[in-house]
Amino acid sequence: MLLENKNVVLGITGGIAAFKAAEIASQLRKRGAHVKCIMTQHATEFITPLTMREISGNPVAVSMFGDIPEFNVEHIALAQWADVFVIAPATANIIGKIAGGIADDMLSTTVMATKAPVLIAPAMNTNMYLNPIVQDNIHKLEQYGYEFITPASGHLACGTTGIGRLPEPAEIIDHIEWIVCRTNLLKGKKVIVTAGGTREPIDPVRFIGNHSSGRMGFAIAKAAAFAGAEVTLVAGTTDNLKTPVGLARRIDVGSTRDMKEVVDSYYDTCDLVIKAAAVADYRSAHPAENKIKKSDETLTLPMTKNPDILLGLGQRKKHQVLVGFAAETTHVLEYGAAKLKKKNLDMLVANDVSAEGAGFKGTTNIATFLFPDGSVEKLEKMGKDELASLIIQRAAAILAKK
Ligand code: PMT
Repeated sequence: MLLENKNVVLGITGGIAAFKAAEIASQLRKRGAHVKCIMTQHATEFITPLTMREISGNPVAVSMFGDIPEFNVEHIALAQWADVFVIAPATANIIGKIAGGIADDMLSTTVMATKAPVLIAPAMNTNMYLNPIVQDNIHKLEQYGYEFITPASGHLACGTTGIGRLPEPAEIIDHIEWIVCRTNLLKGKKVIVTAGGTREPIDPVRFIGNHSSGRMGFAIAKAAAFAGAEVTLVAGTTDNLKTPVGLARRIDVGSTRDMKEVVDSYYDTCDLVIKAAAVADYRSAHPAENKIKKSDETLTLPMTKNPDILLGLGQRKKHQVLVGFAAETTHVLEYGAAKLKKKNLDMLVANDVSAEGAGFKGTTNIATFLFPDGSVEKLEKMGKDELASLIIQRAAAILAKK
């Protein structure tokens, strides 16, 4: 887990979204992080310190002069303890105080004393958020290296609709992971990742598809972005997955030929391609213009072969590193090795999609890496995030040798 044993100080200020801090703290702990909360006095009007203490598993600091014996000079101890400092929700008031150098309570004092990266999630009325004073404060803090999550738009507690909602806790957690885990492993590199399944139309209402959820590819795109790369994610159909934080772009495609067109257009200038998408090898030769009506007992659809995107990339390869996948149900290593060679790849990730805990849909996979020199790295079952990070490490090592 990316946040395993990371120390997160969660600052909570006095806005209606303060109740969401409970969910943020809970999700952080589920991901292995240690959480300590600081609440402003106003925040305690919206959610109690007791709630946050129970959820975070740690004492909650509110007063500058409270007595939490384990914090030696409390605000300094917390400031030093943090691997990352998050303020969610952040009011216009706390943003203004930090920007103005004011340290007059536990939260503002501690944030001033920390050297950890600070992530601020503003949540307030639209007019307040768009007020030039607040915007100036945000820009000023950004210049000093404070990071912000843009608020979501929607219905606000004050009865209006507009920008100002605290983003969902999952999105805030994604940003925290991004801050804690990012490296420079692929800094300056352009990476294309394909994910999800392609769809080939049969008629206007039906298609040929597959079970790919996109999870493997999205995890790889996220890991590449965390490694500092400029990532283009080419996504087929997925289980409605959210775009990972930090991507340069996401391009959604339908058919294999759509995917090929997009991948080809970015290929010449890219450094690394990782093709985790499950691509249809065949399509209907003549998709019907109108819905095919039910009549005979059987229906025969003439099929025609799709272009093999990865094969084409392998044939045109210059400086690029190519990583392919092989989704097999038998002879996994044998078929994988054949694909590695035929498609001129630098690395192949073979997975037995019929094995329990591997392949489509789930959050885990069981993979074996194959390399052109014949070496093989067999891996245990692991989370797709963890596998993605290993794939990026191996691909970066290959790139470094080129
Ligand atoms: O999305 P998830 O639910 O998380 O599932 C993950 C996964 C099972 C889809 C993933 O781990 C995986 O195995 N992806 C590759 C699926 C696949 O199409 O395998 P393949 O053995 O048929 O193709 C070999 C390689 O050639 C793949 O990199 C594929 O993207 C590529 N290919 C295949 C056919 C084609 N016409 N063009 C291609 O580029």
